[in-house]
Amino acid sequence: MTLSRMTPAALMAALVAFPVAAADPGKMLAQACAGCHGQSGEGLGSVPDIRGYDRAFFAEVWQDFREDRRPATIMNRIARGYTEDEVAALADYFARAE
Ligand code: HEC
Repeated sequence: MTLSRMTPAALMAALVAFPVAAADPGKMLAQACAGCHGQSGEGLGSVPDIRGYDRAFFAEVWQDFREDRRPATIMNRIARGYTEDEVAALADYFARAE
C-alpha cells in the first residue's frame, strides 16, 4: 500500500504505529536507497558512499540527475520519482548519516 492511497484514518494509524518514521521522514524514505547504497548509505560494491553528504550539494546533484546533466546508470530515473520536500528530507537524512 502506498501512502497516497491510504485514507486519512489509516495514515494517522500508521503514523502513530511508526513514530520514528513520523519524526524522521528522511529515514523512512531512505529505506528505498538501502538496497543499493547500504543501510546507512555506506555504499555497496560500486554504488557510492553517501554518508555525510553535503545538503546543498545533494540538492544540486539530484537536480543534475533529473535533468540528465550528470552521468548515471540508474539515479537519473530514481531522482525523477521524488518531490522537493522528499529530496530535502533525504538530503537532511544522509547529511546526518554516519
Ligand atoms: C538501484 C540502485 C540504487 C538505488 C535504489 C539508489 N541509488 Fe543512488 N546511486 C546508485 C548508483 C549506481 C549511483 C552512481 C550513479 C549512477 O550510475 O546512476 C548512485 C549515485 C547516487 C548519488 C551521487 C553520489 C556521488 O556523489 O556521486 C546520490 C546522492 C545518490 N545516489 C542518492 C540516492 C538516494 C538518496 C537514493 C534513495 C532515494 C538512491 N540513491 C537510490 C544506485 C542506486
